[in-house]
Amino acid sequence: MTSALPSAEPLLAWYDRHRRILPWRAGPGETRDPYRIWLSEVMLQQTTVVTVGPRYARFLARFPTVEALAAADWAEVAEEWAGLGYYARARNLHACAKAVVARGGFPRDVEGLLQLPGIGRYTASAVAAIAFDLPVVPVDGNVERVTARLKAIEAPLPAAKPLLTERAAAFMADPAARARPGDFAQALFDLGATICTPRSPSCVLCCWRADCRALHSGIAAELPRKSPKA
Ligand code: ADE
Repeated sequence: MTSALPSAEPLLAWYDRHRRILPWRAGPGETRDPYRIWLSEVMLQQTTVVTVGPRYARFLARFPTVEALAAADWAEVAEEWAGLGYYARARNLHACAKAVVARGGFPRDVEGLLQLPGIGRYTASAVAAIAFDLPVVPVDGNVERVTARLKAIEAPLPAAKPLLTERAAAFMADPAARARPGDFAQALFDLGATICTPRSPSCVLCCWRADCRALHSGIAAELPRKSPKA
């Protein structure tokens, strides 16, 4: 049984006004390219939004399509990835591009995306929601934090992960969220990155403040709790 969640409407209305302008976000009416979205998500797992910006543009200038990336030599890909973190990621990126081209394009469902090299649950869900508007909620640290606070989930991470994932998935029960899954996912990311921040959340500015149980209990800044490291 999942208790009532706040309506997606205020969050989407907030996103429509305050969304961050980011290079991988298609403007209204622009087509969403799964290659660009997948690439941005892989890069964002390594480094911050601010750092990714210029590197993303450079990478795309060199490898504008998944076909171009698949056809490139590994040495070129490695060179372009320099400074962006683990080479294993770049290896997987290259292998994934080849697999996508071999099968004739990106799979349009989470299970298919999960079969690709280097694509885990988060990336599969992010691509499915943002590129294909499938009704899934990708759960990253931002989404965990927003969800933990809204629902005042005090169980500590990492044990609380399955519960947070379940509660985040329940957002899609709302028809307003189902109508715009890609925007909804990115609205959660932006809320977590700009308002519902880790240390000093700006609760007075939050579109969900009326619904936030942690705010009502005065514990928003304390959540999510974390188990002490072993
Ligand atoms: N973090 C991970 N993916 C993101 C996205 N698409 N927009 C903003 N922040 C993100």
